[in-house]
Amino acid sequence: MSIRVSVVGASGYVGGELLRLLLWHPAVEVAQATSGRNAGRYLYQVHPNLRGRTSLQFVHPDRLEPCDVLFLALPHGEAARSFARYAELAGRIIDCSADFRLRDPAAYARWYGEEHPAPEWLDRFVYGLPEVSRPALREARYASGVGCNATATNLALLPLVRAGLVDPQQPVIVEVKVGSSEGGAGASESSHHPERAGAVRSFAPVGHRHTAEVEQVTGLHNVHLSITSVELVRGALATAHVFAARPVTEKDLWQAYRAFARDEPFVRIVKERQGIYRFPEPKILAGSNYADIGFALDTATGRIVSICALDNLMKGAAGSAVQCMNLMLGLDETAGLEFPGLHPV
Ligand SMILES: NC(=O)c1ccc[n+]([C@@H]2O[C@H](COP(=O)([O-])OP(=O)(O)OC[C@H]3O[C@@H](n4cnc5c(N)ncnc54)[C@H](OP(=O)(O)O)[C@@H]3O)[C@@H](O)[C@H]2O)c1
Repeated sequence: MSIRVSVVGASGYVGGELLRLLLWHPAVEVAQATSGRNAGRYLYQVHPNLRGRTSLQFVHPDRLEPCDVLFLALPHGEAARSFARYAELAGRIIDCSADFRLRDPAAYARWYGEEHPAPEWLDRFVYGLPEVSRPALREARYASGVGCNATATNLALLPLVRAGLVDPQQPVIVEVKVGSSEGGAGASESSHHPERAGAVRSFAPVGHRHTAEVEQVTGLHNVHLSITSVELVRGALATAHVFAARPVTEKDLWQAYRAFARDEPFVRIVKERQGIYRFPEPKILAGSNYADIGFALDTATGRIVSICALDNLMKGAAGSAVQCMNLMLGLDETAGLEFPGLHPV
């Protein structure tokens, strides 16, 4: 008998991506998909890519039934406010929001501007990035999601951090360029096509909340993030500027990146001497769970430029969440996540 999974917040962009992955997953069956506004409508009426694949209809969140694994893809704060109810319905829960990502409630209060609504659950969650929490995820009942910009930044920085190459005395500056789907399916003035199309817009030059997640994952406390909205629907590209603790060579960097990526099924090193795709680029990752990482070294100044590209809805949200589920259930970690992306696209 297959594993029954349900998605709460299934009409949103992350929810839709979870459905796409779970409906094609070899070991699970989608039991319910909730939407308050679309209850009774077929899934394909909101997510047209799912037409012909399922006859499921959205159900109202109040009609959610017990299942084996529950995915939550809700607006900020909703999962934490109702978590006790969800915990009664499923033994394993993966929450894609920021509600349970930070271990420290004080960090949550500082970055999210309010006390955590359910701090008693915090230490039962494992941070949902397999590249940093794989052993704990195998034992976990509850996994948090990941921030998309945080994940692009973390995967750009971790090869250097793990190799001890980041000078803790020097600031680490990271520019992240992001696509419009990061803002979710709801419309706003800034998502109105004439305003959003063609934009290269400084969205959060300072103070982005994902800084807290980067500090938690990398252990660095000198990371400065700037987020810029660009002309993409899916995708995030983090470009990190790092100064090493000691003189480094290209060979040192290759060793550091290879050591990090060696056993990771969804991390690839992209660094070519020739061609168009010499460095990581989100364009060719749309729909795939890969995070591509690469680097360049300015030998004259010692500046290391570390780059990570990913699809914010996949490795930055739903893809990592399904990877977590696979680990939590003892399944093949890559199950349901093999799609390599498209070229040309
Ligand atoms: N977009 C990204 O790139 C991305 C990346 C990483 C993480 N995330 C996180 O993932 C979560 C979902 O993001 P999204 O972009 O998918 O948002 P979204 O497109 O706005 O979708 C939100 C979903 O939540 C449902 N919902 C709203 N209030 C609810 C409630 N009180 N109870 C039950 N369902 C409710 C909405 O459907 P109805 O109103 O019809 O019920 C909708 O299906 C957010 O916390 C976000 O921070 C997003």
